[in-house]
Amino acid sequence: MKVTSIAAVTLLAASILFSANLTASSADQAGAQRHQVPVDSPLRELAKRQDLLIGTAVDHAAFTTDTVYRDRIATEFSSITAENVMKWEVVEPERGRLDFTAADELVAAARRNHQGVRGHTLLWHNQLPAWLTEGVNSGAITPTELRQILRKHIFDVAGHFRGKVYQWDVVNEVIDDNANLRDTIWLRNLGPGYIADAFRWARQADPKVKLYLNDYNVEGLSAKSDAYYRLAQELLRQRVPVDGFGAQGHYGVQFGFHSASEVMTNLRRFEDLGLETSITEVDVRMLMPPDTVKLQAQAQGYSVLMQGCLLARKCTSFTVWGYTDKYSWVPGFFTGEGAANLLDENFAAKPGYRELQAVLALAGR
Ligand code: XIL
Repeated sequence: MKVTSIAAVTLLAASILFSANLTASSADQAGAQRHQVPVDSPLRELAKRQDLLIGTAVDHAAFTTDTVYRDRIATEFSSITAENVMKWEVVEPERGRLDFTAADELVAAARRNHQGVRGHTLLWHNQLPAWLTEGVNSGAITPTELRQILRKHIFDVAGHFRGKVYQWDVVNEVIDDNANLRDTIWLRNLGPGYIADAFRWARQADPKVKLYLNDYNVEGLSAKSDAYYRLAQELLRQRVPVDGFGAQGHYGVQFGFHSASEVMTNLRRFEDLGLETSITEVDVRMLMPPDTVKLQAQAQGYSVLMQGCLLARKCTSFTVWGYTDKYSWVPGFFTGEGAANLLDENFAAKPGYRELQAVLALAGR
């Protein structure tokens, strides 16, 4: 097992190098252009040559108060995702009162910086407004009414951002860790058809945006990613407008990673169904404190996801879930863990950052 995966990684590295050489020698023009971007360039410039959008989740509070944080987003990334401010509890804090103020600020900044925006997320079981969850729990909101509320939400939000986002996470985390449909207020009250409904409504609200399934623990081949594969197959069979499959990429060095070839194989099977793919929320956490071994392992975690994406045929965006350890959701959610991002608290590059630069510079897509 071990030997096989080492061999696979070596082969993979060789094939990346080989294709990089091929491109450089067989097409002088392209080769010349490739050499114009030094390896020590911002990620967005390196990713551009690979036809890949490279993004980060943006913490709106930090964005408005920390100019170093804000400026680096502009130079380093070609895509952004609102870390929280497009979520339902933020955009409709009281029933019927829509508030897109914070999200609109991020969208406007992205436009100024020539960045794309990934929409996150139209339907999830977390960060729902209290009026909604309490209404459902008390029975004040009936299943029929809940379906209408969900429909209106998708039309409101996808409609508001129509033409301004290039991908939407239409449904987020709808399959659980046992590879079954997740037990949520959506499944309990609306039945499994809510997923197809959500995609159809999103398509009506914004005809051009790419509509995504998105989840964690689906980067490699597993019962959970198999369940997504079957779900995607079934939705497509029913002519539901699904365009993409997003693997979040929340890794931890203490758990190990998939090989790049396994990530590639997984993404490619979704692409073979006709979908595009993206890596949507990468971070690689570790037990605190960090040390050189953990930081090196972390770089490997970022690397396999980037390599898997580049080796797949239609992996269109690679987004990190925050880019500096100064602002990260990890310490607040995983006790004793942290240091999950590419830059440290002082915005200094960690090995993971250098690794992504090197992989992007080497790749011959
Ligand atoms: C997280 C944010 O980073 C936190 O700030 C927030 O408190 C909770 O949500 N999967 C997702 C993201 O799809 O929306 C989550 O973001 C992280 C896990």
